[in-house]
Amino acid sequence: MTATEELPQLEGFTFIRLLGRGGMASVWEARQHDPDRVVAIKILNDDISNSPEDVESFYEEAKRAAELDHENIVTVFEVGCQNGHYYYVMELAAGYDTGRWLRRKGQLKPDDVLTIAESVAVALDYAVKAIGIIHCDIKPGNIMVDSDGTVRLTDLGIARFVRGPSQEDGYVCGTPAFMSPEQALGEELDVRADIYSLGATIYNLVTGRRLFEGRPDDAVMDAQCHEQVGDLRDLNPSVTYPFAVLVSQMLAKNRALRPMSWSIVIRDMQRVRQGLMPLGRVPEEGESTMRLNPVTEADAVVASFSENTLEPTRKMRRRERLARMSGKSRRGLIRYIAITAIVALSAYFAAYFITCALL
Ligand SMILES: Nc1ncnc2c1ncn2[C@@H]1O[C@H](COP(=O)(O)OP(=O)(O)OP(=O)(O)O)[C@@H](O)[C@H]1O
Ligand SMILES: [Mg+2]
Repeated sequence: MTATEELPQLEGFTFIRLLGRGGMASVWEARQHDPDRVVAIKILNDDISNSPEDVESFYEEAKRAAELDHENIVTVFEVGCQNGHYYYVMELAAGYDTGRWLRRKGQLKPDDVLTIAESVAVALDYAVKAIGIIHCDIKPGNIMVDSDGTVRLTDLGIARFVRGPSQEDGYVCGTPAFMSPEQALGEELDVRADIYSLGATIYNLVTGRRLFEGRPDDAVMDAQCHEQVGDLRDLNPSVTYPFAVLVSQMLAKNRALRPMSWSIVIRDMQRVRQGLMPLGRVPEEGESTMRLNPVTEADAVVASFSENTLEPTRKMRRRERLARMSGKSRRGLIRYIAITAIVALSAYFAAYFITCALL
């Protein structure tokens, strides 16, 4: 907040400080009087709401978002309007957003990014299953991380009704660098638009660069539909081949070629964490916004290793046999091993003492 900037006035709240300012709103820390608690209040800029229908939709969606209760989602407490200012009151998230974290570090470690992205995927899986809601503005600025590493997603259900750039003649929401092609074209959206945006977020956090960085908003939205960027491993060599394949799948231009649900994304993130390939097919040339480098020998080894692990190894089969055993037979096996060990030890000591006595 600048020295001349005044704290807002809303009945029922005492404003404390500015937390951040985005393109369409400012977010403040404030004390709510009843109930007495510290909250974050997002006040939409005056030029955001063009029509009464938009405002009505914003209200409805924010109220629905307030029904969500998940550890990875910032809870919305209430929405309101005072003196023509639209605002919503939400839980104050500790820590800072991953965009700020990225600005400090330059690039984040792929493992950390995967952990953050998985929490986001789990939160969005819950939201879509609970009330059929999608986010529409997944990006680093909307992902908060506290000192324990807990991830909290903000703006869920709100972004859809806040107008973004270049929309005089269409209904477009979101942020160009993280926007799916169908979003840039103003089409009807589903969960796969958020999957693309999370792919673009992962790309940004791991490389330090946004998709099509440096171009005007309109050009970025056009490029999301028609152009490609290079493999993220060119900018961060610590990224593995399975990680790069997963990002290229999430960034498929045609949503029919993306993972179709959050459960699939979560399963594949867990596979990538274990060094295994995601299960879907590797995108072909031109299919994804991120072009994969030609497959090297090392990539091929990783890919074949992933396929081999689909066949149970001897060790896995033994572990499965043990797991299938009833408790009784497992106890019997343990007793058998214990008795054998005692007999073997006794025989060893007996032989030792007899040898000593004879010498
Ligand atoms: N619930 C919250 N608790 C604490 N800080 C928050 C909370 N919500 C948002 N912030 C902070 O306020 C900043 C501004 O948020 P805002 O949603 O207005 O903008 P943004 O998401 O960064 O960008 P844009 O306006 O382009 O969508 C965020 O980057 C974040 O650091
Ligand atoms: Mg935000």
